[in-house]
Amino acid sequence: MFDFQPDPDLDPAERYRQLSDAASALTDGESDSVANMANIAALIREFVPDLNWAGFYRVVEGASGKDELVLGPFIGRPACLRIPFGQGVCGAAARTGETQLVEDVHAFPGHIACDAQSRAELVIPVKRAGHVIAVIDLDSPTTARFTQDDAAGMERLASVLSDRL
Ligand code: SME
Repeated sequence: MFDFQPDPDLDPAERYRQLSDAASALTDGESDSVANMANIAALIREFVPDLNWAGFYRVVEGASGKDELVLGPFIGRPACLRIPFGQGVCGAAARTGETQLVEDVHAFPGHIACDAQSRAELVIPVKRAGHVIAVIDLDSPTTARFTQDDAAGMERLASVLSDRL
């Protein structure tokens, strides 16, 4: 049995440090990326409060030969399957290679609504050898839920996952 439940009083930096350590331990020696993404989505739910969706979109070559994002393991409501690079918050993270921190999704041009409850969104690219291979998407029902501490903490997790997906 895995029991990674964090202390609710931890400050964000320590909480994310523990999340990264748990993710590293949980994926160590496992080469199956679906298994690793599934467990990491579950871990994120344990460590990051006030989320209604957390999971992965993977970079996959689409039918047109262009890279696009395809839904991966997640926790939350069923979500859109494919997102072109440059569309929505996830597509912006994939195209730019930069974390996207959105306080109010209704103010983000082109935001793709998968769950009507979502108000704030944080999307972090996972890179390998400088290329985006996936994005981690966090949605919250609370406007302005995510801060730079969350972005920095999730970027730390994304770097752990660089060679585990
Ligand atoms: N809102 C995202 C789409 C994915 S769902 O939130 C799970 C976006 O605009 O890219």
